Amino acid sequence: MIYLDSAATTFQKPAAVAAAVQEALTGMTSPGRGGYRAAMRAAETAFNCRQELSELFGLENPEQVVLTSNATHALNIAIKSLVPPGGRAVISGYEHNAVTRPLAALSARVEVAAAPLFRPQAVTEAFARCIRPGVDAVICNHVSNVFGFAQPVEEIARLCRTRGVPFIIDASQSAGVLPLDMTALGAAFVAMPGHKGLYGPQGTGVLLCREGVPVRTLLEGGTGSASLQQEMPEFLPDRLEAGTHNMPGIAGLLAGVRFVRQRGPLEICRKERQLALLAAEELGTLPGVRVYAAPGLRSQTGVVSFTVEGRDPEEVGAALADGGIALRAGLHCAPLAHKSAGTLATGTLRLSVSDFNTREEIFRFLEAMRVLIP
Ligand code: ALA
Repeated sequence: MIYLDSAATTFQKPAAVAAAVQEALTGMTSPGRGGYRAAMRAAETAFNCRQELSELFGLENPEQVVLTSNATHALNIAIKSLVPPGGRAVISGYEHNAVTRPLAALSARVEVAAAPLFRPQAVTEAFARCIRPGVDAVICNHVSNVFGFAQPVEEIARLCRTRGVPFIIDASQSAGVLPLDMTALGAAFVAMPGHKGLYGPQGTGVLLCREGVPVRTLLEGGTGSASLQQEMPEFLPDRLEAGTHNMPGIAGLLAGVRFVRQRGPLEICRKERQLALLAAEELGTLPGVRVYAAPGLRSQTGVVSFTVEGRDPEEVGAALADGGIALRAGLHCAPLAHKSAGTLATGTLRLSVSDFNTREEIFRFLEAMRVLIP
């Protein structure tokens, strides 16, 4: 199989990730649940994972790194900590259901900072018009999961700081690929999956929490700490980590983060952009193919959406799958992004690469497209 669906989850993982999962299954129990060797190894692994993540994302205290089940879990904690039922939020026009559905569940009054595709200056101007006192939270993804472009989070963070509104960044598509310094940005929360650009196993996610920002629990239960008290501990990460930890996942995530730091996010990004650019340029020469990309993939990562005139994306995606090529077709769980881009009726085909893809794979995908669209 040629795997071009890394925006959903990276499938090829570094060998060290599988080895770490295996090691956790056979040698670790739960952190904070005992002083014996298997429990201590689990505690050390979880701490090392927090430490690596805090260094990668510019957070001073590793205990502000909360380990979650996925980015959706992390975003739910962040949003429900800041936005009360019926509260007010400002979001970009390219948010995922992991943002819009929790806001809908809160019956929040949501203002969309609307801007056309691939126009970062317009995004900043739209947020500048919407961010005002009384807004409970501003939420924006760093990179659109559908169209792959980077949003101007530095400028939005500056607006939030000067106007005193908390900022939540959804780094689902950028973590491990684009630099992000939580302290410099002054964001309240940064949420991300562990299983995409950080190369951890599915079932892992991360919430970076700025010190002093109050957090609301989604789950209450055992933490291995302050066990006599019936309220959840006030301190992080315990306050947000009830129940037994996913140690195989956390150990795998630690190995994934170490891989990313060793390779360097900039180097990974450079490679992914080159592959995406090759695909985008060649797709653009095929009859009836519309590629959603800025010229030269400016501000874009390794994610490119496209459509084929007169063809249903799901049907093209299924034909590619029959030929052993995996990519995603449809709405990509982000109807708002499609509404903003004018692609809501059918969605798009979306190609997304990881550090493990090759030029040869892109050429084979293009060859398959040429057969499908003679
Ligand atoms: N949010 C993931 C995607 O874009 C699952 O496919």
